[in-house]
Amino acid sequence: MTSYDISKSYDWNYDQAPAEPPRVTESPVPGSWDFCGIPVASPLGVPAGPLLNGRWIRYYAALGFDVLTYKTVRSRYRACYDLPNLLPVKAEPLQGEGSTLRAAAFGDSWAISFGMPSKDPSEWRADVEATRRSLPPGKVLVVSVVASPEPGWTIDDVARDFALCARWAVEAGADVVEPNLSCPNVCTQEADLYLSPEASGQIAAAVRDAVGKIPVALKTGLFGHREQAAAVIAAVAPHANAVSSTNSITARVEGEFGGLRRGIGGACITARCLAELRMLGEIVRASPAGLRLIGVGGVSNARDVRDRLAAGAHHVQIATAAMLDPTVGLRIREELAR
Ligand SMILES: Cc1cc2nc3c(=O)[nH]c(=O)nc-3n(C[C@H](O)[C@H](O)[C@H](O)COP(=O)(O)O)c2cc1C
Repeated sequence: MTSYDISKSYDWNYDQAPAEPPRVTESPVPGSWDFCGIPVASPLGVPAGPLLNGRWIRYYAALGFDVLTYKTVRSRYRACYDLPNLLPVKAEPLQGEGSTLRAAAFGDSWAISFGMPSKDPSEWRADVEATRRSLPPGKVLVVSVVASPEPGWTIDDVARDFALCARWAVEAGADVVEPNLSCPNVCTQEADLYLSPEASGQIAAAVRDAVGKIPVALKTGLFGHREQAAAVIAAVAPHANAVSSTNSITARVEGEFGGLRRGIGGACITARCLAELRMLGEIVRASPAGLRLIGVGGVSNARDVRDRLAAGAHHVQIATAAMLDPTVGLRIREELAR
């Protein structure tokens, strides 16, 4: 099986995407599933990140995942940060943000440091179009989008840039758009938008206007407390279909990344992301809006999937574990089928 090579650059991995999807048999998952109202065969997907382009998407679509998210794109070209983009860390289960971790040679958790690169819109729009055309029916294509604020931009400008990317994604064939309101690895204005109910609500409304009836899922990071989460949920619920949580947990890594925080993904965030989802589940159940939840963060086996569904997720997504072992989706399906 081909997997992402963490010793090589984002561009190298973009170019070395598997040419052909593998031919494997996927176990059927008992139950009836949908993603934001679109019928699918399982509750399994890959969130924004591992799938750099259409070839990576087609590859994972053949490996047991029914919802495939195109790595976050922008309204302009943006280069990737220098290596390391994925740095394994030694970590006990993280309880929240603000830890300082040590780098490790390998492991099941890592610091993520890409800076949300994007190919030029002419390139990603053509690739999204070709991807949708070549994906088998029943597979859902989500496109993750983000704004690229310039100095002096107001929140109106930011919302307009989100909406432009979302419109382009839908014109190219995205089944669902996912505005990313949380990127722990960038230090500019787009990093922690999800913490502001006003900004989140305004962006969700602008994207809704731009995409019509196409489902909108908002990606969020860890909330500081329940009231903050409840205020954001209330602000976005009139405009969005789903919230995807959690976009990693931030930490510093000793001697790395110039002392700046990075998002941590993988096994060490499993418990904290499950707790976050439970809290969001309670908030969403108490609200009349019918917002859906997508469970992300530290999922690596069938038990994790069942835990997220029981906590209130209607769908579950796997990044780190699916990069470390591209067959994880097939294994989870077998376990869910038993
Ligand atoms: C290689 C990689 C790149 C990522 N890039 C993005 C991104 O572009 N946009 C985004 O919203 N999240 C991005 N993420 C975060 C994942 O979508 C996910 O929220 C996070 O990794 C936690 O899930 P995990 O524990 O299964 O890795 C990235 C994660 C990884 C591992």
